Amino acid sequence: MSEQAFPTGFRYLPDYLDRAEQTALLEDIRAVVAEAPLYVPLMPRTGKPMSVRMTNCGTLGWLTDKERGYRYQETHPVTEKPWPKMPRRLLDLWHDLASVEVPPEACLINFYESDAKMGMHQDRDEADFSAPVLSISLGDTCLFRVGGQERKDKAVSFKLKSGDVVLLAGDSRLAFHGVSRIYPDTSTLLKNGGRINLTLRRVTPVP
Ligand code: SIN
Ligand code: FE2
Repeated sequence: MSEQAFPTGFRYLPDYLDRAEQTALLEDIRAVVAEAPLYVPLMPRTGKPMSVRMTNCGTLGWLTDKERGYRYQETHPVTEKPWPKMPRRLLDLWHDLASVEVPPEACLINFYESDAKMGMHQDRDEADFSAPVLSISLGDTCLFRVGGQERKDKAVSFKLKSGDVVLLAGDSRLAFHGVSRIYPDTSTLLKNGGRINLTLRRVTPVP
């Protein structure tokens, strides 16, 4: 797939993390999940469960439930404790790639079983879109889809595999994107299979 097909500003960094870095990051994420367990998010209004499970680390976490919908908050919805600190490794990745001075505030952790997917959406619950969304894939390969700033815009699909990094930056910050499918048994990183996606974001206004 040529870079030409990607929206302007979108960056695809295949194999950005080597296996040792992926393993180390996975250990960091396991520690986060031990403190802030994965839960099933519910769609606003309908209360329909999403097929991914989620948790967060950082000062703010993204969540959704039936009553209050999409939002960021400082605490885990089940344990009601503050989210675990963002691991150093993630702060360093952001520093190396995000091209902004300010640190990320939220890291959303999505866990996909082999039958999970995520519909096309924009990441637009943040108060500031000047910083990119930095996305890291671990575990099984997925089919990722990214389009333009309007739902009707043409989209391209390509595979994201363990260790790949993607940035929704510049004009692509508000690009529609989603995960059409997971390819089971395509990675040995997670013992029981599945895919983990981490998205780092700045939420409050960049000073
Ligand atoms: C997301 O948009 O929150 C997740 C994207 C992905 O799983 O790659
Ligand atoms: Fe997203």
